[in-house]
Amino acid sequence: MVTVEVGREYLLNIEKIVYGGEGLARPEDGPVVFMENVLPGESVKARIIERKDSMARAELIEVVTEADCRIIPDCPVFFECGGCQLQHASYQAQLEFKKAIIEESLERIGKLEQWPDFEVAGMDFPWYYRNKGQFPVGERDGELITGFYKAGSHDIIEFPECKIQHQPVNRLLDKVLDFFKEHNIKAYDERTDQGTLRHFLIRSGYCTGQLQLTVVVRDSLSADVLNELKGFIDKEQALVSIYQNINTEKTNKILGETSELIAGQAYIVDYIGRNKYSIYPESFFQVNTVQTEKLYDIIVDYVEKLNPGKIYDAFCGSGAIAIYLADRFENITGIDISLESIQAARVNAELNGIDGSTVDFQLGSVEDLLPEVLAADDLVIFDPPRKGLPDETVKLIKANRVESLIYVSCNPTTLARDLKKLSDSYRIEKMTAVDMFPQTYHVETVCLLERKIETENTGG
Ligand SMILES: C[S@@+](CC[C@H](N)C(=O)[O-])C[C@H]1O[C@@H](n2cnc3c(N)ncnc32)[C@H](O)[C@@H]1O
Repeated sequence: MVTVEVGREYLLNIEKIVYGGEGLARPEDGPVVFMENVLPGESVKARIIERKDSMARAELIEVVTEADCRIIPDCPVFFECGGCQLQHASYQAQLEFKKAIIEESLERIGKLEQWPDFEVAGMDFPWYYRNKGQFPVGERDGELITGFYKAGSHDIIEFPECKIQHQPVNRLLDKVLDFFKEHNIKAYDERTDQGTLRHFLIRSGYCTGQLQLTVVVRDSLSADVLNELKGFIDKEQALVSIYQNINTEKTNKILGETSELIAGQAYIVDYIGRNKYSIYPESFFQVNTVQTEKLYDIIVDYVEKLNPGKIYDAFCGSGAIAIYLADRFENITGIDISLESIQAARVNAELNGIDGSTVDFQLGSVEDLLPEVLAADDLVIFDPPRKGLPDETVKLIKANRVESLIYVSCNPTTLARDLKKLSDSYRIEKMTAVDMFPQTYHVETVCLLERKIETENTGG
């Protein structure tokens, strides 16, 4: 085995991009080496910075032979900031990497031998799409700063504008920072547990232009400052909702227990297709409004061919999928564990004139609330968080012999793991991926799963 030693430099050939956005090299007979900011097909000079039994991590010194898809990143802090991982590759190449990552997950983790051919639906303009930003606040040389944390650290990287945030979010962020500078409010310092300002959270209605600001503080802002902050609503036309959130804990969690409305409306509004959605500081709403419409249209297309009895929107967030389906289907139940999301879901039903007999929302875990007995023609749409499906839910589905499932996933590795668990009973009938997160390594996949006919079953 090649000795790969920490501190030494090697010439490495990059084979592929893995989930997480790093490049992978496989030196002959050596451990696999991971490193950032490289691309498949490149030869690079790199220094080993970490060595474990079967893997090593390296830092890039120099690209010796560049890949054709390498481009100069648009963002001046791309190489320092942890927010994007793929800005150094053309957008077409990013979509190809994402497809390869999904396929490799299905093969290596899912142990699947076949799946339908699929595309990764990209954006026409893959910039300025994020309708939500969470910006830590700190100080440099006594001056208030904000930006993003550098990957794996709490060092704040400032930027002139973030290339993937919706522009109104960037503009409001500058003004909010100026406001707190003018009022001499100190940033919270996590080492000393002193100071006030922790994070600015900004959400935007991509289609409506409405903005919501949540100022996260260690201790409440003074009455005077709060009053002035209220005045922001009159100065900034698009800003229609301001909250203060008090987080007294020494924690990495951004938000404290409660968000208090300081001025304006309790929620902002956005549209996906013809449907109207409320957004609260803590309710779940997909961050890429444009691509979400594509994703939901794919779901509608899958559901239309099924003629389901009941539809369960499991892990429904603020009910967006259930509501999107409600003008064509009935008997829909949304389940989510977050109180704020379920409250938003109920408001969303009202905003769209949908009554409780068409869609009903239940607060609790999918493990507890998905009925023990499901009919064969019931359809369950899963859209779980990154960690994927609970084991008991997989078992329940298999035991009920449900004919069709739709699995929406933001993590190809846990999707593949869950498909493996389901694979003795279900096959992938159709699948598509949607690039909800251009410039980053993330990708959304949606699969229509059909129960295997008995002769196909190998058990379960
Ligand atoms: C990916 S989001 C759902 C997105 C939603 N379908 C949409 O399109 O807007 C995942 C949701 O799962 C919820 N969640 C996490 N664990 C849960 C559990 N065990 N049971 C129910 N909901 C859960 C979270 O609160 C979050 O809203």
